[in-house]
Amino acid sequence: MCGIIGYIGKNNPNDILINGLYNLEYRGYDSSGIAICDNKNIEIIKSIGRVSNLEEKIKKESRLNASYGIAHTRWATNGEASLKNAHPHKVGRVTIVHNGIIENADILKENLIKKGYTFNSETDSEVVAALLDSYLKELDVLVAINKLTKSLVGSYAIGIIIDNYNGIYAIRKDSPLILGIGLNEYFLASDITAIIKYTNKYILLDEGEIAFLTYNDYKIYKNKKIITKEILIADNIDTVNEKKDYSHYMLKEIMEEPIVLQKLIKKYSNSINQEKLNLSDYKEIDIVACGSAMYAGFIGQNLFEEYANIKTNVYPASEYRYKNKIYNDNTLVILISQSGETADTIAAMREVKRLGLPTLAIVNNKDSTIAREADIKILTEAGVEVAVATTKAYILQVSVLALMAYITACKKNLLKESINYNDFEKVPILLKEVIENNNQYKNIAEELYKDERCFYIGRGIDYAMCMEASLKLKEVSYIHSEAYQAGELKHGSISLIEKNTKIISIITDKKLKEKTISNIKEVEARGAKVIIVTTKDLDEFEDHLKIVVPTTNKFMNSILVIATLQLLAYYVALKRNCDIDKPRNLAKSVTVE
Ligand code: F6R
Repeated sequence: MCGIIGYIGKNNPNDILINGLYNLEYRGYDSSGIAICDNKNIEIIKSIGRVSNLEEKIKKESRLNASYGIAHTRWATNGEASLKNAHPHKVGRVTIVHNGIIENADILKENLIKKGYTFNSETDSEVVAALLDSYLKELDVLVAINKLTKSLVGSYAIGIIIDNYNGIYAIRKDSPLILGIGLNEYFLASDITAIIKYTNKYILLDEGEIAFLTYNDYKIYKNKKIITKEILIADNIDTVNEKKDYSHYMLKEIMEEPIVLQKLIKKYSNSINQEKLNLSDYKEIDIVACGSAMYAGFIGQNLFEEYANIKTNVYPASEYRYKNKIYNDNTLVILISQSGETADTIAAMREVKRLGLPTLAIVNNKDSTIAREADIKILTEAGVEVAVATTKAYILQVSVLALMAYITACKKNLLKESINYNDFEKVPILLKEVIENNNQYKNIAEELYKDERCFYIGRGIDYAMCMEASLKLKEVSYIHSEAYQAGELKHGSISLIEKNTKIISIITDKKLKEKTISNIKEVEARGAKVIIVTTKDLDEFEDHLKIVVPTTNKFMNSILVIATLQLLAYYVALKRNCDIDKPRNLAKSVTVE
C-alpha cells in the first residue's frame, strides 16, 4: 500500500528520493516523508497530502548536505493521515520506513512501554523502530535485525537507517522490495519504476534476507552468511511510465490497449504457446481475485461454462481464503492479479497450495509474489499501470481468459460455429477504432455527470461486464453506481428508479437480448432514462442514446464494450473535476488484508 525508496551513492539523495516518490505515489498518497543522512546527522521532513507538498517543504526546510536517505509515501492503515503518523519514524538510534501491517504491534508496544519507550504516533511502524532500537542495546546489528524479523507477525518491507552505521538496511516479508544496482550507487525501492531513471539492474530481496547498502558495495545476508543473488534486468515494457501528452494516465493506458492486446494475441498464435492456455484437463475451476481482477474472472466464468463446458466458480480472495473449500477431482485454482502483490489473493494462493491444488496465476507484474509462487504463471504483459483504476491490465486479463476458453473449446471439439484465430487478430484494430471515436463517450458523459447515482444492467456475460463498468464509474467519478442482473432488479432495487434515473444496459448476448429488453421496458415505465451499449449485429435501438461497438467473435465482445465504458467513466470523472489517476481513499496495490 505504501511506497518505499532508498538511495546511497555519489549523488544528492533528495532529488532521487523525490523522483522515486513521484513514481511510487500510485501506491499511496495521503502523506510522505524523507530521512536523509550526512554520516553524522539525520534530517527528517514530512508532509501531509501529495509528494509535491513534500518537495516544496524540502526546498524550504532542508539544511543537510546529505549523502544517503530513505523515503516513503503512505496509504494510511494504522492511524489517520497526519504528520505524526507519516513516515519515516525515528526511535532512539533507529529510523525506518515501512510498508505492510504488523499484526502483533499492540503486544510489542505494551512490552516496549514497560521498558520505558514512549510513542508519538498511532502507527505499527513506530513500534518496529522502537523494537529494533531495544534489541540494538544488547545485540550486534545483524543479530538484532534478525531477531526483529523473528518478532514481527504480519507483512513488511522496511528500509532502516541506524545512527553511526553509514548505509541502509532492508528486510521484507509479503510486501515487495527490490535493490537497485547502479555504478557506485545503490537503491531500495518498492518497485522498479521508482528507480528506472537511474538503473535497470535489480535484485529481488526475499523473506529471511537482510540487505545492507553502503557507498561502494551491497551485501545480502541469509542465516548470518553473505549470499549472492541473481541480478535481473528490467526491460522497457515493465518500466516506461511517462504520461506523454495525455492529460491523465488513465486515458493514456486506455489508449495503449490495442498495442498490448495485439502483442498478447500474437504471442498465443503459435501452437506451443496455445497449449499453455489449454485447460481441457480440468473438470472445475475456481477463480480467485479482488476488484476488477475478480470481475475479469466473471467474464471468464461465463466463457468457460458456455463454450469450454467447465464448471467455474468465482470468489473474492478476501472471502475465499477463510471459507471451507470443497473441491472436486481435477480442480484448478486461477488467481488473477495485476500487481501480483494483493494481500488477500496471495493468502488465498498460499492456502490453496497448502491444500495441494494446482494454481495458475494470470498476472501482470512478473517479479511479484504471485508470479513467483503460483505453479503456472501466464503474464499479461500490459506494461506499467500508473492510474489507480485498472484499464489495460483488466483488458488483458479478460483476453487471456477468452483465449483460454477458446483454445480449450477447440481442443474439446465443442465449438458449434467456426471461429478462427484470425478473428482474434482483428480485435486490436477494432479496439483502436472504438477508443479513438471518443466524441460519443463525451456526449454520453454530458448526460450522466450531474447524476449522483445510476445502474448498469445486463444478463449473463453482459452482467459480468456491468460489474466492471460500474466499478470503473464509481471509483473515478464518485457517482454511486450499481451493477444488477437485469432480471433481478424488480425483486427490490427497482424501488430506487424514478424519473430520469440513468440506467446503462449492456446487450451483446443474442439469446438474452429480448429478455433484457423486457427489463429495460420495466424501468422505462418508471421514468428511467436508458443508455444502451450493444454490438452492431444486435443494434435496433434507434430511439435510445447508445454506444454501438463492432461485432467480433463471442469470446472478445466484452473487450470492446468495456473499453468504451472505461472511456465513459473517464469522461464523466473529467466533467466532475475528479482526481482521476488518484481517486480518494484508494491505492493501486492493496498489500494489506
Ligand atoms: C479497480 C482496481 C482494483 C484492483 C484490485 C486487485 O480499478 O484496480 O479493484 O483490480 O485491487 O488488484 P490486483 O489486480 O493488483 O490484484
